[in-house]
Amino acid sequence: MNLLFLNPAGSPGGAERALLDVMASLAAARPGWRLGLIAAADGEFVAEARALGVDAAVMKFPRAISLLGDAAAGGPAGDHRHPLAVAGRVAIAAPAIARYTRALRRAIAQRAPDAIHTNGFKMHVLGAWAAPRATPLIWHLHDYVRARPMMSRLLQAHAGRAAAIVANSHSVAADARRLFGRRAGVIAVHNAVDLERFSPAGPMLDLDRLAGLPPLGEGGVRVGLVATLARWKGHRTFLRALAGLPAHSPVRGYVIGGALYETAGSQHALEDLRGYAGALGLDSRVGFTGFAADAPAALRALDIVVHASTEPEPFGLVIAEAMACGKAVIASVAGGAAELFIDGAEALGHRPGDAAELAGAIARLAADRALRLRLGAAAADAARRRFTRERLASELIPIYERATGEKRARPAA
Ligand code: GLC
Repeated sequence: MNLLFLNPAGSPGGAERALLDVMASLAAARPGWRLGLIAAADGEFVAEARALGVDAAVMKFPRAISLLGDAAAGGPAGDHRHPLAVAGRVAIAAPAIARYTRALRRAIAQRAPDAIHTNGFKMHVLGAWAAPRATPLIWHLHDYVRARPMMSRLLQAHAGRAAAIVANSHSVAADARRLFGRRAGVIAVHNAVDLERFSPAGPMLDLDRLAGLPPLGEGGVRVGLVATLARWKGHRTFLRALAGLPAHSPVRGYVIGGALYETAGSQHALEDLRGYAGALGLDSRVGFTGFAADAPAALRALDIVVHASTEPEPFGLVIAEAMACGKAVIASVAGGAAELFIDGAEALGHRPGDAAELAGAIARLAADRALRLRLGAAAADAARRRFTRERLASELIPIYERATGEKRARPAA
């Protein structure tokens, strides 16, 4: 099997991390398969794909395509600009899109893949335009399609072209079925995590040093939100929850992460968040570490990992990663995130955006080390059962085989 992946980004956001696990799981389960990648930007993601033995090339999106907000905004908070404004931008980008599609068509023809796996809204559409008719397309959805009016329409128009549509959770799959219909062949496949990297034992970051804070004393409890600075990740909810803790609370909060996407308006600036924390009187009780490249080492350094997305989270890779590191997790239960753990046994849930409820869960865990350890152990155990690369490969391989089998059965055009 010669598989070609198309990805719109070059740096490792959630969808890219998930795709690296797809590639790694296939490389392990099917060493004979050829895996190729075309990414629309260069970066760490491309380097990591190469390290897995993937034949990766970069075909940069022209700026006009990168700036078409939507997919780059990340997550369910889609494009809320006026449809005409969006249409205007598309019209301006049209020549660049046509040129890119032609170049992509040539690159695909050269590689002659048996199937193409696209990993992001723009690539679902460009793949449909650029791939030869007879080459099956597999769309991999990492976000709610219906949150993006323009993209929804475009994808709906091309859904017939997808031999299969993989969704990262049942929640995202249900959303996609509502748009594409039952016959579109939407299949939910949960992501995997690299359980060797994300494990309970291993190096830890010095979060205090990174945040420029004095070392936390004996008995202090480290509570962190690990996320990009996208607005819907709930940084403000987290900070409000910290501000709602009693003054004598042993908790120190950490905001771990940096800006990721190019699209303005969809993310916080770190400085604004600092200002917000300052206004809440949190200066000495919360630290900002910036982006931490070694995510497992960041997670291990925490006692409690908070996920606080204010909108339904399509999957919530950080929840799975924190569970795999054996951490006590508090997550906002909505969307795919609700599928990842048993609330109360493997992690604690709170309502999205509910700072008071989040504060209550933090206070409860901060006061009860035994409960933290119990939840963490159960989480690690669940992660080792649910998020393995073996499981991921065993669910994806039949999808590729079915798609390409259908292709061979069809009479040559
Ligand atoms: C997207 C989703 C996130 C998910 C990731 C990997 O970034 O917003 O919820 O964890 O893709 O599937």
